[in-house]
Amino acid sequence: MRGLGGDWRSEAWSKIKDKVGRTGLRIRDAFPHASVGGSYQLEPASWWTAGFWPGLLWLVYRDTNDEQLRHWAESCEEQLDRVITDYVKLDHDIGFMWTLTSVARYRLTGDETAKRRGLLAANLLCGRYNTRGRYIRAWNPWQPGEDNSGLAIIDCMMNLPLLHWASQVSGDPRYKHIAVEHTDTVLAHFIRPDGSVNHIVRFDPQTGEQAEVLGGQGYAPDSAWSRGTAWALYGMALAYRYVGDKRYLEASKRAAHFFLANLPDDHVPYWDFRLPERVAKHRDSSAGACAASGLLLLSRLVGEEERLLYRRAGERILWSLYRNYGAWDREDEEGLILHGTSHYPEGRNIDVPLIYGDYYFAEGVAQLNGYEELFW
Ligand code: GLY
Repeated sequence: MRGLGGDWRSEAWSKIKDKVGRTGLRIRDAFPHASVGGSYQLEPASWWTAGFWPGLLWLVYRDTNDEQLRHWAESCEEQLDRVITDYVKLDHDIGFMWTLTSVARYRLTGDETAKRRGLLAANLLCGRYNTRGRYIRAWNPWQPGEDNSGLAIIDCMMNLPLLHWASQVSGDPRYKHIAVEHTDTVLAHFIRPDGSVNHIVRFDPQTGEQAEVLGGQGYAPDSAWSRGTAWALYGMALAYRYVGDKRYLEASKRAAHFFLANLPDDHVPYWDFRLPERVAKHRDSSAGACAASGLLLLSRLVGEEERLLYRRAGERILWSLYRNYGAWDREDEEGLILHGTSHYPEGRNIDVPLIYGDYYFAEGVAQLNGYEELFW
């Protein structure tokens, strides 16, 4: 982009490749989530973020053909076999987990085992569908006796591509039908008129009626969690790409305009866009990265007259993340981009690199370098 300082896009892509190669020597085929004190903390394979490191390895492998990276990514995928029968631990984030492992591998290599795994994961995701409320249930109980069966969350928009993919490769439209019905529920119950979103909606699981809105990872039920807005922006753009329903495109644009209108001067969002003065305004670089990658997709879905608006907006966010948030030459930091906020209300992983921030940042920069095919 002219005015943003030289060919930063290829420079950034090259630094991503270098750093992933270096960090890979320690992480190998494990499952990082948040980098605390400079080292990525590792999580079990059942944790919702398990797909992002292998996804990052596949993004880089696509360019370098480095067999070591492919080997680690495949090993991560194989380890997910151990959790695919763990009904209690798995939730709607099956989509994140298997899209960036099995679907990514299938798209890049045509591997049939990966395709079968992806389809099995899609079946499990469909099994969480509530036919009365037309939503995919988010989680299982966190505590014994807790009833979570009515909860749905905005994040699930990014899980739906697994279902669209499953319909495409199997020829069976049921997966897509469920994805479309959940998306329609999101339009009706999550996306607000101003383009901000509800994080959690509780439905009555028997009747399907909306019962309440919960703040979740946002500050409050009526605040505006920035990563939730990014999930909506990107997820609705993907839904439009798969289905062609203009309402989804409009919803993606509405979320995009709200997101962009609320960015601070450095183009990287606070963790919530609607915070009282007394609450700490930490950045969430992961929300910026996810929104930026989604904006680049959106720019390819709209008409000529709007294309540059979204392209430039996505590029500006990525540029700022690269210049102002990157940990490129820091040997004491494994994360690619600093200052993510995972869960402020619960005080978890605040102001640290997050593996999904790294993934979406790399995905966005890969798009700027000509890799426009997405794993989603
Ligand atoms: N899907 C959980 C999160 O965005 O933190």
